[in-house]
Amino acid sequence: MELGLNFFDTAEIYGLGRSERLLGEALRRHGAGYDVVVASKVAGYRFYRGLVLRGVESINRRLGRTVDLIQAHWPPPAWVPLCSVVRGLEDAVLRGLAHYYGLSNYPAPLVERALECSRRVEPVSDQVQYSLAYRSPENRLVETLEKAGMALIAWSPLAKGALAGTSRPRDPAQRGDPVFREAASDKTLQTALDEASRRLGAPRASVALAWLVSRGAVPIPGTRRAERVAEIALGGELELPGWALELLDRASRRYLERWGRCYRSLQWLRLVPCLAQYLAVRLLGGV
Ligand SMILES: NC(=O)c1ccc[n+]([C@@H]2O[C@H](COP(=O)([O-])OP(=O)(O)OC[C@H]3O[C@@H](n4cnc5c(N)ncnc54)[C@H](OP(=O)(O)O)[C@@H]3O)[C@@H](O)[C@H]2O)c1
Repeated sequence: MELGLNFFDTAEIYGLGRSERLLGEALRRHGAGYDVVVASKVAGYRFYRGLVLRGVESINRRLGRTVDLIQAHWPPPAWVPLCSVVRGLEDAVLRGLAHYYGLSNYPAPLVERALECSRRVEPVSDQVQYSLAYRSPENRLVETLEKAGMALIAWSPLAKGALAGTSRPRDPAQRGDPVFREAASDKTLQTALDEASRRLGAPRASVALAWLVSRGAVPIPGTRRAERVAEIALGGELELPGWALELLDRASRRYLERWGRCYRSLQWLRLVPCLAQYLAVRLLGGV
């Protein structure tokens, strides 16, 4: 916060509620008020209005404050009416349980459908996987969001550390992520990042984040190490000159289609019934 970071993202399933409790506690301890924006997410198995509202109430209890941005973490299964999720999110805002609502992992056609569903309050954002190593959102989603005046929040903006210089996986999240593995061993992309970083005198993580900012996205990098926060904060301030933008664009162009022309992250969940998703979370300890 001292470095100017004022947006924190969590979710009801992160640490099965523990992440929200810790974030709320940390913000209170540091006297943060509504100058800081807190975003959280209701799980995608909350498929009708009442379930969404109950989820937001629990989130606020754990955070110890009203969540600023409530997001639907992933779209509901294909056979569930999307409008009932939107209705729940709208009602959360109208009842004062959240200040705004947004979507997450919604591809362009589902964003359009959600906009058609919204009657009284419109979504303000879509949180999707987006980085130099995962550029599928640029195919149609970016344009759809721009037209609707919605923000794009970019998750995994460092490709789980691969864009920041980590070449070998150190934890299960990195090991299990094909985007991390491919970006970490992509010589063209790594050389371009190295060159931009050297010529600008800025860390690679800052360069990768600044590239997202230059594209109008809001990156939400994660780190467990306090000493890395300065590099993250610099990513919001660094302005990349034309030659750096061109260099990075050229080196990452193949990622426009590498992971599919349409946005695909977490779309497999649309084939899993809500009850099965819910039971899986309960089995893990539940929220
Ligand atoms: N909506 C969704 O479905 C969804 C899905 C995934 C994530 N998210 C959100 O996006 C956030 C970030 O995503 P993410 O954690 O997947 O990916 P990320 O921010 O791209 O990468 C995080 C990883 O990068 C490493 N890292 C960070 N800064 C570094 C630096 N300067 N040098 C080297 N390594 C560095 C971190 O290691 P250390 O911890 O050791 O620093 C961590 O392993 C999450 O916290 C979450 O809020 C949302």
